[in-house]
Amino acid sequence: MVAPLIRRVGTLKDVAHFREHLQSLGVTVPCDDHLVHGVESPLRQPLVGSEFRIANRIAVQPMEGWDGTADGNPSESTVRRWQRFGCSGAKLIWGGEAVAVSHDGRANPNQLLIAPHTERGLAQLRTALIEEHCKTTGSDDGLLIGLQLTHSGRYSRPNLGNRGEPRILYRHPILDGRVPLTNGNNLLTDSEISVIIGNFHRAAGVAAKLGFDFVDVKHCHGYLGHEFLSARTRDGSYGGSLEGRTRFLREIVDGIRAIAPTLHIAVRLSAFDTIPFTPDHAQSTPGKPGAGIPQNDAGLVPYRWGFGVNSSNPTAPDLDETIQFLALLEQLGVRLVNITGGSPYYNPHIQRPALYPPSDGYLPPEDPLVGVARQMEITRTLKQRFPNLIFVGSAYSYLQDFLPHVAQAAVREGWTDFVGLGRMVLSYPELLWDASEGKPIQRKLICRTFSDCTTAPRNGLPSGCYPLDHFYKDSETAKRLTTIKQAHVNRDAD
Ligand SMILES: Cc1cc2nc3c(=O)[nH]c(=O)nc-3n(C[C@H](O)[C@H](O)[C@H](O)COP(=O)(O)O)c2cc1C
Ligand code: SF4
Repeated sequence: MVAPLIRRVGTLKDVAHFREHLQSLGVTVPCDDHLVHGVESPLRQPLVGSEFRIANRIAVQPMEGWDGTADGNPSESTVRRWQRFGCSGAKLIWGGEAVAVSHDGRANPNQLLIAPHTERGLAQLRTALIEEHCKTTGSDDGLLIGLQLTHSGRYSRPNLGNRGEPRILYRHPILDGRVPLTNGNNLLTDSEISVIIGNFHRAAGVAAKLGFDFVDVKHCHGYLGHEFLSARTRDGSYGGSLEGRTRFLREIVDGIRAIAPTLHIAVRLSAFDTIPFTPDHAQSTPGKPGAGIPQNDAGLVPYRWGFGVNSSNPTAPDLDETIQFLALLEQLGVRLVNITGGSPYYNPHIQRPALYPPSDGYLPPEDPLVGVARQMEITRTLKQRFPNLIFVGSAYSYLQDFLPHVAQAAVREGWTDFVGLGRMVLSYPELLWDASEGKPIQRKLICRTFSDCTTAPRNGLPSGCYPLDHFYKDSETAKRLTTIKQAHVNRDAD
């Protein structure tokens, strides 16, 4: 497949041209002509529920930095990232970043861990965030802070950055070939699952003790919680029917309610997915992978190994089970839902639309705006269906200069309750705050989706916005990243 020619968003000179461009792509995204400032701004409207009040509609997505210490404590750069989450002005901090509930479930040897010896470090992150937040907004009134709890399942790499130690729930016809499975202990037993559930309970108790307002029981991006939802071929209590596949969630929620009755529970969900993608090797050149193409599905249709995937056409979403899952959340009293899609490991163009691929990715098979619109449209559909749930939408960063206009319109028209910022927070945390204050937008800080923040950790370095954040300028890690990127080009040329 030949990669489509993609017009750079930064070259579109105003909202009218942006709209024209969207039209030429055949996608619908709400977009306001003018930004409203101050208390009138839709982004500044509080969300008031019976259980909590969140003072504006800006959310910070969980953004991991691969920069914790070997024992799972935050480092100085972790603290700095949380301070920047705070100074964004966002009143909803969705989890900060993925925090493993046990060492074996860490996605990398520098992922944060929630354990007795890390309690002080995790508490410090929260305090540092609040301090900076107060400097931007004047107070911590209406600020809701969660902690994202995870087990990395198939993507666990607890001990060495270059050695996967996958714990899987079922044999996957494609993904099994992409992680180093041994014949022995990769498949989690039901009793091992019970231990993991207990770890989530314990972790939630600690989060409540440290003052976090909620925990996110992560169900996205190919990690363990998400893999449960597609475990149709798994025997035993935690697979098969949707009831079996959601037992993990239900048992975690029950236990948290018993241990920490006042702690809110949230779920970040990959609400849709596709069959894994791979670079089109026929079109690859040194340092430049071909465009992404779906993995050959011969013999795999009906496709049974995805959640939110159309089984007869596995490149298309199907929301039937997603809707049943959200109905279950509502029934369980889990009101905070963060909608994302796919996985950064096997379909990154779905999960984090970007112009430039990460080192293990492929050229975008579609204009990344199509990917943004897909996530927005699915969030809108789900919000319409579940008006009582509180939704955070994802994948806004690729909108770049027009992010504030789209964010304002999306909240105003009810496409989502909160606009969640991921990569943009790494380069320009205050973007939406500045926009809603009427301050000039600092164009040089706008994330242009260079993907260095994904390439760095894929190669064992801490994540961060190497191109735009002055913190990395001339740093040793930035130099190492440049060398690694060059080595990829040389390797491909050999
Ligand atoms: C460097 C990096 C780290 C991330 N860490 C997490 C994480 O810890 N938990 C999570 O749910 N999503 C994580 N994500 C995904 C983001 O939260 C977000 O869904 C994605 O980047 C798309 O949103 P955006 O377009 O605003 O970047 C990460 C993304 C990046 C680029
Ligand atoms: S490295 Fe910076 S500019 Fe590139 S995608 Fe990440 S946040 Fe955006």
